[in-house]
Amino acid sequence: MEMNIALLPGDGIGPEVVAQAVKVVKAVGQKFGHKITFKEGLVGACAIDATGDPYPDATHEICAASNAVLFGAIGDPKYDNDPKAKVRPEQGLLRMRQKLGLFANVRPTFTFPSLVHKSPLKLDRVEGVDFVFFRELTGGVYFGEPRGRNEQGTKAFDTNVYSKEEIVRLARMGFEAAQKRRKLLTCVDKANVMATSRLWRETVQELANEYPDVKVEYEFVDAVAMRLIQWPKAYDVLITENLFGDILTDEASVISGSMGLMPSASLGSNVKLFEPIHGSYPQAAGKDIANPLATVLSAAMMFDYAFDLKEEAEAITGVVNLSLAEGVVTEDIAEGGKSYKTSEVGDWLASKVIKAY
Ligand code: IPM
Ligand code: MN
Repeated sequence: MEMNIALLPGDGIGPEVVAQAVKVVKAVGQKFGHKITFKEGLVGACAIDATGDPYPDATHEICAASNAVLFGAIGDPKYDNDPKAKVRPEQGLLRMRQKLGLFANVRPTFTFPSLVHKSPLKLDRVEGVDFVFFRELTGGVYFGEPRGRNEQGTKAFDTNVYSKEEIVRLARMGFEAAQKRRKLLTCVDKANVMATSRLWRETVQELANEYPDVKVEYEFVDAVAMRLIQWPKAYDVLITENLFGDILTDEASVISGSMGLMPSASLGSNVKLFEPIHGSYPQAAGKDIANPLATVLSAAMMFDYAFDLKEEAEAITGVVNLSLAEGVVTEDIAEGGKSYKTSEVGDWLASKVIKAY
C-alpha cells in the first residue's frame, strides 16, 4: 500500500518520541512491503517561533494532503504562565482539529500485565481494565461563541453549545465500537444541570433503538469521575462531550500505571490523526529519556484505524509488549533497574519488527 504520512513532532519531547515511531513505521513498511512517504510540518510553540502562527497554512496543506498525521506534543512553559499571551500553542491544536474535521477523539485505557503494579490503584481493581473513551473534539465549550470578557474585563464567559448532528455522529462511532467490543456504552453527561447534556441524553436514547445489541447506561460526569477509579472494569465504551472527555481521559490515562504509554486517535475525516496522550514534558526535552511507547502505540493505531492493516498494528503492539517484558524501557518504567535511552528503545523496537515478524 502507498501511504502519505504527515509528521508534526511539535514541542518538548515531541520530536524525540515521533522519531522513534518513525523508525518503527519504516521497519513495518520494509517488513510488510508498504511504500511510506513522510512530510514534516511545524505546529505549536516551535511554529509560533518560526512563523508567528501555531498552525501555519503550510502545515495544514501537508496534513490535508496526507492519509494520516502522526503528532507529537505541543506546549511550552513560556506560554503557560502568561494568560495575556495573544498567540498560544494550544490554539494551533484546536484549529488543526477543526480544520481537519477531527470530531472524535478515541482514547483507550488498557493494562500491560508487566506494569499493573505501577498503577496507583489496587491490583484487583486494575487487572484486565480495558475501556475506551470517544471524546467529542470539535464542539462544546472549546469552540462555542460568544466567549470573552465584558468591557471592563471584570466578567468572563464561555459558551457550551451542541447540535444534534454533532452528538449523533460521535455517538454512532461509540455504538459501532461497542458492537465490536463488550457491547456496553456509557453516555457521560451532566443532564441534571446542563441543557446541552439533556440534548446529549435525549439524542443517545433515540439512537439506542438502532443498536438493540448494545446496552446503554447513562451516568453523570461527577459519578463517572469517581467510579472510574473505584471500579474501572465497569466500563467498555464511553461517549462524552469535549470538556468532560478532556478531564476524564487524563484521569483514565494514569490507571494503567504510566501516562507515557497511552496512545490516541482523532477521527472524523479522510485524514486521521494519531498522538500520544501525554504532553510535551519540557523538563525532559532533548535529554533522550522520554518514553516513546505511547507514540509508537499511536503508530499502531494508525495502521489499524487509518489503513485497516491489523497485522501491521499487531506487529507494533507485539514488539512493545516484548520490550516491556524484556525490560528494554526508559527510566520512567525501569524503577531503578537498567534503563535505555529513548533512541535505543526506538532502535530496539524497529529491529524486532524486522526480525520477529
Ligand atoms: C488534550 C489537551 C488539549 C485539549 C489542550 C492542549 C488544548 O489537553 O489533547 O487533551 O484540551 O484538548
Ligand atoms: Mn487534555
